[in-house]
Formats: sequence, C-alpha cells, structure tokens
Amino acid sequence: MAFLLPLLCSLFLSAVCLWLLRELRHRVRRLPPGSLGLPFIGETLQLISAYKSDDPEPFIDRRVRRYGPIFTTHVFGEPTVFSADPEMNRFILLNEGKLFDCSYPGSISNLLGKHSLLLMKGSLHKRMHSFTMSFANSATIKDHLLVDIDRLIRLNLDSWTERVLLMEQAKKITFELTVKQLMSLDPGEWTESLRKEYVLVIEGFFTLPVRLLSTTYRRAIKARAKVAEALAEVVRQRRRENETGLKMIDDMLGALLSSADHFSDDQIVDFMLALLIAGHETTSTIITLAVKFLTDTPLALAELKEEHDQIRAKRSDPEAALEWSDYKSMAFTQCVVHETLRVGNIISGIFRRAMSDISIRGYTIPKGWKLFASFRAVHLDTQHFKDARSFNPWRWQSNSEAGGSPGNVYMPFGGGPRMCPGFELARVVVSVFLHRFVTRFSWVVAEEDKLVFFPTTRTQKKYPIIVRRRDEAPILK
Ligand code: HEM
Repeated sequence: MAFLLPLLCSLFLSAVCLWLLRELRHRVRRLPPGSLGLPFIGETLQLISAYKSDDPEPFIDRRVRRYGPIFTTHVFGEPTVFSADPEMNRFILLNEGKLFDCSYPGSISNLLGKHSLLLMKGSLHKRMHSFTMSFANSATIKDHLLVDIDRLIRLNLDSWTERVLLMEQAKKITFELTVKQLMSLDPGEWTESLRKEYVLVIEGFFTLPVRLLSTTYRRAIKARAKVAEALAEVVRQRRRENETGLKMIDDMLGALLSSADHFSDDQIVDFMLALLIAGHETTSTIITLAVKFLTDTPLALAELKEEHDQIRAKRSDPEAALEWSDYKSMAFTQCVVHETLRVGNIISGIFRRAMSDISIRGYTIPKGWKLFASFRAVHLDTQHFKDARSFNPWRWQSNSEAGGSPGNVYMPFGGGPRMCPGFELARVVVSVFLHRFVTRFSWVVAEEDKLVFFPTTRTQKKYPIIVRRRDEAPILK
C-alpha cells in the first residue's frame, strides 16, 4: 500500500500542473474567458444533458452571466469559442471562406459525401450555391413548385384518419416534395423505401464515426450506400434518356446533367443526397413545432384559422390548387412561421473553424480552433426580443417588438455565402401545410409530448394527435 501514496500524489500534482499550464496558456493567448472543463471530455457532458432536456438555456445563461457573450468551452473533443453575440455571429458568417471555414463532425461529413453543397468550398461552392438558389427562389416556387407542394400536401392529408404521428407524417410529406423537386418522381414504393434508408443515415449523424465502436454508425454507412445506389440508378437512367434525346426533363437533376461542369455520377449523387437531407428534415420539424406551438397558444391558433378560413371562403373552388396570391395573403401565418423558427431554433447555430489567428474584441482566436455561432442564444435573449422565451407571433406585426432590425439578430437560416438556399421554399411549404391542415381538420393532442434538443430538435414522441375533419362531429377527449 505504501507505494500507492507517492503514486497518487504525483498523479494529483501532474493534473494540477496540467490545469495550471492550460489556464496560463489561456491567459497568455488572450483567449475569450471560459473554462475548458475536464481533460478530453471538456464540458461535453454538461452540454448534452442540458440539450436532452426541454430547457437547455441554463447551459448558455450561466456562462454568459459569468464570462460574457463570447466565451471559451471544450465540447465534442475540441476547444471551442462559443458566441452568443449577434454581431460576432454575423462577422463569422460573413467571413466564410476568408477567415473561417465550415466544419462538420466526421460522422456528418462522411455520411453527406464530399461533393455535397454543405462541404464544397471556393468557387465551385459559390456556383453551386446560386444554382441551388435558382431552384428554390420565389419565381421558381411561384411558377413551378407551388402546384406540386399543394397537391402532395393534399394527397397526404387525404389519407389521415384518427391518430397521426405528426412528425413522421410531416417527414413523409417533405421527403416526397424534395424527391419531386429534385428528380420529378411522384411518391410510391420507391420513394418510401428510400425514405426508410434515409432515416438510418440521419441516425448516424451524431455518433462516433468509427464502424467498430458504433452499430448505429455502421448501419448508417450501409444505408447511405443503398441510398447512393438507388440515386445513381436514377442518374444513369436519366443520362441515357438525355443522350438518346428521348426525354429531357426540366428539373434539378436535368440541370445537373446538362451543366457545363460535366459532373460525374458520383458528384451528382452526393449533391442530391445531401439536399434531400437538408431540405426535408428541417422543414418537417418546423411544421411539427408550428402545430405544437399553435396548439399550446389557442389565441394564435384562432387567429390563424380565421386567416385561412377567409382565404378559403374567397376561392371559388377551395379544393383547387392554391395560387401565389393566396400564399402572399397569409400575413399572420408568416408571423407564426417566423416565431416558430425563432423559438424552435432547429438549427441552433453553426460550427466554423478559424483559418488563421484571428484578433477580435481584444481576444485572439488561434488558427484551427472551432467556433460556434449560436443563433439560439441570440433568439432567446431578452436584450434582443421582449419576453424572448415565450411564443408570441404578434411580435412580428411590429418590427420594433421583434428586436429593432430583425435581420441583424434574427438568423434562423444563417447568413453570408452559406445562407440556406431553401429559406423561401421552407416558408412556403409550412404555410401551405398550415392552410390545408387547419381548414380541413380540428385536432387534439393524443399524448403529452415535450421538446428536446439533442441530438436534433424534436418532440420526444413525434407529436401524436387525433384529427377529425372539420365537417364531422367534434372530438371528445
Ligand atoms: C425551416 C427549414 C430550414 C432551416 C431552419 C434551415 C437552416 C439552414 C441553415 C442555418 C443553414 C446554414 C448552415 C451553415 O451556415 O453552415 C442552412 C444551409 C443549407 N440549407 Fe437549409 N434550412 C431549412 C430548409 C432548407 C430547405 C427546404 C432546403 C432545400 C433546398 C435547404 C438546403 C440547405 C442547403 C443545401 C444548405 C447548405 C448551404 C451551403 O453550405 O452553401 N434548407 N440551412
């Protein structure tokens, strides 16, 4: 036993020395204040346990109170500068590719594929970003996509009876919409089996990217290979049709195939695979959260219903396709969508990496360090939004209520060169869904459900509701 005491003492002394050295380096380098937590794991466990609860705010609040809105932490294996400051967040977003580079965890990069827009860099990224925008901007939605969005939403709602897992159904709708938009395929067995593989791919996003250690990751890699093969088959088929001049379809795949960049099949597959994830996961979550927040806020729901009942009453055939002017007249709905994005924060922020030593606000962020620009921290800060933590869609009726100039602090779709190219499309899909949903159904919550934020924002039970067509008898709970 006697030999144990000196061993323990020297271990303890080494740990103290290491800690002192780290703290000293921290000060000498003029890093933002903060704590790097325990060796190796840093503050990851505190972050995960906060985000697995329905109230993750204390994790950020405590650190902001102690260190200010820009602080250092250590999460997911790396020291990270965390920003809860809107100006700093804008600076990070606008300097993409100059001072900062986008940076995703290994599991996400491997599953997305190196030719996805999210991982592209430089001039190719710039070109492909505007290419993607051109397939999701207002003019394209108005002239081409709106009709399919409305048709596919109605088709899905027609099959709803009694109990519905809203999150799952919303995912089905947005997946079908994205497949249609990318490659003009209508829903069927093929889309459904592809969607099931996608679920497995997405589950692998937040795992250790080591096949030996994680079954979820192994399963995700296998599912990705199946998805890629299914998409590659479509690409090959369409290439053959293009070459013979038999059929030229004017959709995103058609444009990729005829691009002057002469993309290979692998490049096209990676590009579409990632768009399918980016496009459908996010929008379906916002649909679910909008319905949840409205259900929890009866006054807002009543006002939204009123707006949509009026639009419906004005139309000579309410079941005919919605027009762009109908969408444009959904003023209160836009407030609901903004507020859902603000409170829901489904993309709570973005990771970047410093490309060189960066001096800012008297601090130095060392080259290679990670930064996290937190949208969530800003959106839920009472300095920027009055009564920031409650759902209040009416705040968007006056810009001052929303926090002065919302563009400066409100950024659910990011900003700068990587700003979400689907921002308008997402808003239209949610609005059309709400129109068809509230004019067709009344509903009650089937089981209490709560929001959690890790690994992604979702409701724990996929938000089960019982729906009844509005022309039928009311639901007795
Ligand atoms: C409510 C729905 C959505 C939200 C909240 C959202 C949010 C975001 C955010 C914050 C980013 C920036 C990521 C970064 O800077 O690293 C982003 C990027 C992206 N989004 Fe969305 N998005 C939504 C819907 C969509 C849709 C419908 C599409 C389909 C076109 C889409 C496609 C993309 C793509 C491809 C990127 C990567 C852009 C790039 O790296 O250049 N998103 N999204």
